[in-house]
Amino acid sequence: MRILILGSAAGGGFPQWNCHCENCSGVRNGTINAQARTQSSIAVSADGNNWVLINASPDIRQQINQSPQLWPLNQQRGSNIKAAILTDSQVDHTTGLLTLREGLPLDVYCTNVVHEDLTTAFPLFPMLQHWHGGLKHHLIGTDHQHGFTIQQATGLTFFPVHLESNAPPYSPYRDDVVPGNNIGLKVVDNASGKYLFYAPGIVESTPLVESMLSKAECALIDGTLWLDDEMIKNGFGHKLGSQMGHMPVNGENGSVALLNHFEIRRKILIHINNTNPILNEDSSAHQFVIDNGVEIATDGMEITI
Ligand code: MLT
Ligand code: MN
Ligand code: ZN
Repeated sequence: MRILILGSAAGGGFPQWNCHCENCSGVRNGTINAQARTQSSIAVSADGNNWVLINASPDIRQQINQSPQLWPLNQQRGSNIKAAILTDSQVDHTTGLLTLREGLPLDVYCTNVVHEDLTTAFPLFPMLQHWHGGLKHHLIGTDHQHGFTIQQATGLTFFPVHLESNAPPYSPYRDDVVPGNNIGLKVVDNASGKYLFYAPGIVESTPLVESMLSKAECALIDGTLWLDDEMIKNGFGHKLGSQMGHMPVNGENGSVALLNHFEIRRKILIHINNTNPILNEDSSAHQFVIDNGVEIATDGMEITI
């Protein structure tokens, strides 16, 4: 299986258009050692030709234009993206669907509550019907024992994994989540049995998450914030990361400490917020992550398992 990191930043990207924090102004001015990043999305493929998009970020146009893997060889129009899966209904994971309108219809796999959000509070599904039939919804469940396959992208099986996190700020489920608001994905390569575990938004671990991590070949895990109070300390918000559905990278309840419990060939942080000091490659926070055997995702990175 090939795993392509289309966007490794959290909502807002890096640098964020209205942000002048140390990281954002540093990367803009070239005064820190850091790489710009687009918003959260990956794609996976068993054969390198037929790809499944996982989450559709507002930066998808740029991401596709930067990724030859997604360009068809002998077609005047078309894409190697054959279907999309949504892990939640967050703005940074869904607004890219609007950009894909020229290429609709598209098969979109998501849970019933994500479909509900995207039909009511943020009505992408009904709206996009007006473009060549729009988004064709395929219902996925929340039981990690029931995997699904995608006809146009054979060789992979996808298992939804319930995650503890929040629903989007606009959603009626915001602080009142139900199963299906947030799933991680276990993506199995049918030929080898090896799998990726993808969880870009997770606030705390659970026995289920640990069982997923224990046998994963590659884990892409929430790296949004370095510290739980990072947004408050920097004066950018009133909420803790944990109130927004994200565990910190640092600390005993952080993602690095969690990953340290497991032997995983590729441990990678993803969905990194622009305030996170790990983005600065000369920082002690960056070095701490690397010293723990954990990688920090960059756009365009490809992983083969
Ligand atoms: C999140 O990951 O918490 C959201 O993308 C935040 C947002 O939509 O602003
Ligand atoms: Mn996000
Ligand atoms: Zn910033």
